[in-house]
Amino acid sequence: MKKRLTLLVLSSLILLPAFTLAATTTAELGEALYFDENLSFNGNQSCATCHDPDFGFVDPDNATNLTPVSDGSFPALTGGLNAPSAAYASFSPFFHWNGVDGLFVGGQFWNGRANSLAEQAAGPFLNPVEMAMPDKWSVVERLRVSVSPDYQTMFMDVYGLDLSLIYPYSALAPIPPGVLEIYDRMAEAIGEFEKTQLFSPFDSKFDYFLAGMTDLSKAEAKGLKVFTKGGKCALCHLPDPTLAPDGVSQIPPLFTDFTYDNLGLPQNVNIPGSPVDPGLGGRLDIAALDPAGLQLGKHKVMTLRNIELTPPYGHNGVFKTLDEIVHFYNTRDVLLEVCADNNDPGFGITCWPVPEVPLNVNIVELGNLMLDAQQEADLVAFLKTLTDGWGPANGMPPLPRPPMPPSP
Ligand code: HEC
Ligand code: HEC
Repeated sequence: MKKRLTLLVLSSLILLPAFTLAATTTAELGEALYFDENLSFNGNQSCATCHDPDFGFVDPDNATNLTPVSDGSFPALTGGLNAPSAAYASFSPFFHWNGVDGLFVGGQFWNGRANSLAEQAAGPFLNPVEMAMPDKWSVVERLRVSVSPDYQTMFMDVYGLDLSLIYPYSALAPIPPGVLEIYDRMAEAIGEFEKTQLFSPFDSKFDYFLAGMTDLSKAEAKGLKVFTKGGKCALCHLPDPTLAPDGVSQIPPLFTDFTYDNLGLPQNVNIPGSPVDPGLGGRLDIAALDPAGLQLGKHKVMTLRNIELTPPYGHNGVFKTLDEIVHFYNTRDVLLEVCADNNDPGFGITCWPVPEVPLNVNIVELGNLMLDAQQEADLVAFLKTLTDGWGPANGMPPLPRPPMPPSP
């Protein structure tokens, strides 16, 4: 008996450090949460449903369904916007006004209304057209009762928070202490997961080209030239590395400057209710600062990394293919006829519809690029060099990893 006890004590001493090493990390907790459908009202939707790692972190249904917007946990309820990629979103700076250039910059969402990934991640659970949970406590209740993933252990490991102390959910009782902190920590952990290499691998053909480890094909190289010169794409979708916050390392090109513009995209009448999205200028806080409406119709410049994988394109998904959106940039102001709407058979061939928001349309940097059909095709070939996974698929060694943005 005595001997067995000693053995037990001994083995737990040996096991103890091993357990400490195996404790959950913040990103692992975030990963469990990101993929957990049980955190939506009907148990049918997670972040990954609309930001699927196998499809460039967007909703693959938006490309195949007639309507380009995601179903919610209640499938009859949908939002009015095309889900953007959650990849590389961690590099968007906090939303701010750049007084030097006179521009709003950064933030999360098409209109930048969330400052950080953590702030963003707190939203979808309670959004009636997304995961549709009634309140924060009801989400925390799902965490509390979950067996797999074992959130009780994970929250204790990562944050020292004891979920078992929260009493069972009641829609009528006052919110128990601790619930709001658990909810915020949940969103924070998801944000940390979105900063991992899975979301920003920087291993496209273009990254290996920049590292001098491969050549572009003739068409791709010509497309890069169109991108930076005649196509003017590089004015907003920056193809150059930027300096990391540490002031030393370089962040490979993100193909966005995180500013806002109205490209004059047509309305998408296939979205239920045919909404008109006012973009940045439609935010109440911005509208208050901007009585002249100079921000109306502007949406965030999105990254072009993995763009091949993320149709449809634009905030309202009005373009189904890369060929189509490139042709729009090239000929928006050239096609003489005006389409009735985006279902017009002449769409993009003989006509474009009027802009969804006719104010503040950028007529200087796009609309009449005078590219020929070959240049358009080369441009699309170049855009396809921005798809991640090229390095591993071609047996290339990993590239040095840039520092991740600091945690907000
Ligand atoms: C029902 C589909 C749906 C679900 C579920 C969903 N999202 Fe989204 N997501 C969207 C849409 C649509 C937008 C754009 C909304 C807007 O701009 O107003 C968006 C925007 C984002 C953005 C902003 C990207 C950028 O560059 O601005 C991030 C990051 C993001 N979602 C992460 C998440 C996370 C994390 C979850 C889970 C907590 C989640 N989403 C759940 C549809 C969804
Ligand atoms: C004046 C700035 C600007 C220029 C120049 C520009 N873009 Fe954009 N781009 C944007 C903005 C802003 C958006 C989002 C607009 C929206 O959805 O309303 C966008 C969106 C896109 C999208 C869709 C992204 C998505 O996630 O759906 C593609 C593809 C794209 N641009 C490619 C190009 C190409 C190719 C060129 C050059 C021919 C180019 N852009 C030139 C600002 C610009």
